[in-house]
Amino acid sequence: MNLDGVRVLLIGAGGLLGKDFAKALVAAGANVMLADKQQQAVDAVQTELGDKTRATGIDITNAESINTALALTAKAWGAVDAVVNTAYPRNARYGKVFEEVAYGDFCENLNLHLGGYFLVMQQAGAFFRQQGGGHIVNIASIYGVMAPRFEIYDNTPMTMPVEYAAIKSGLIHLSRYVAKYLKDSGVRVNCLSPGGIFDHQPEAFVEAYAKHTGTIGMLAPQDISAALVFLLSPAARGVNGQNLVIDDGFTL
Ligand SMILES: NC(=O)c1ccc[n+]([C@@H]2O[C@H](COP(=O)([O-])OP(=O)(O)OC[C@H]3O[C@@H](n4cnc5c(N)ncnc54)[C@H](O)[C@@H]3O)[C@@H](O)[C@H]2O)c1
Repeated sequence: MNLDGVRVLLIGAGGLLGKDFAKALVAAGANVMLADKQQQAVDAVQTELGDKTRATGIDITNAESINTALALTAKAWGAVDAVVNTAYPRNARYGKVFEEVAYGDFCENLNLHLGGYFLVMQQAGAFFRQQGGGHIVNIASIYGVMAPRFEIYDNTPMTMPVEYAAIKSGLIHLSRYVAKYLKDSGVRVNCLSPGGIFDHQPEAFVEAYAKHTGTIGMLAPQDISAALVFLLSPAARGVNGQNLVIDDGFTL
């Protein structure tokens, strides 16, 4: 898959998936604006990846900040071909079990995450419409398409937050809404839905998770990056309004 000359604004580029996305996109030939709320994190990725990248701060809950990042990307390479959003905003109380989630926290986490992804689609959509085309890829999740398997969290401090179910299912449907809304403007919107990514989770969880997959179990960031490279390549030019699930069969 060749991404020579493809100009990408990658939001959340300092995170677990974002760092690997950046590497894979550059290796495939793309120019990448590395954007994250934590500017230091993307500065470090930029130093590692070099000339084909630039770095900037961004906050997906602020329209001006999104537009500044779009303008910086266009200034660096002449235009923006794709915006990839892999940000993961959440407040300090995120991740509690269902009964313990305060109404205010539920609303705040939806505002930050689903609201932020909405704002990126709205602002990038307007930018792309004016430019004459572009592609938005949102990172959703298997938990946007299936009910949680709560039992795999037994004997761990982890759970599958109720906000996450609302956010990611909402994001997948909202992406279809925007894809349809912008269909005649040369603007495409797609989702990529990863399964669980191995990040040193408790062994009990990793083992319980793997009972529901094929032979791989939890995935590596590289498994998702490869799918992203495909989605941004000319080979996927006909893909619009879709949700590509990469999960070694966990949702089956
Ligand atoms: N890790 C997984 O197992 C997994 C599985 C399925 C889906 N996902 C999804 O993939 C995406 C990335 O996950 P991750 O594990 O890499 O998360 P992460 O927490 O490692 O990285 C997320 C990045 O987003 C940045 N961020 C937070 N708030 C922001 C804001 N307001 N504006 C801009 N940037 C902001 C953070 O600074 C961080 O660098 C998320 O949307 C997550 O829901 C992750």
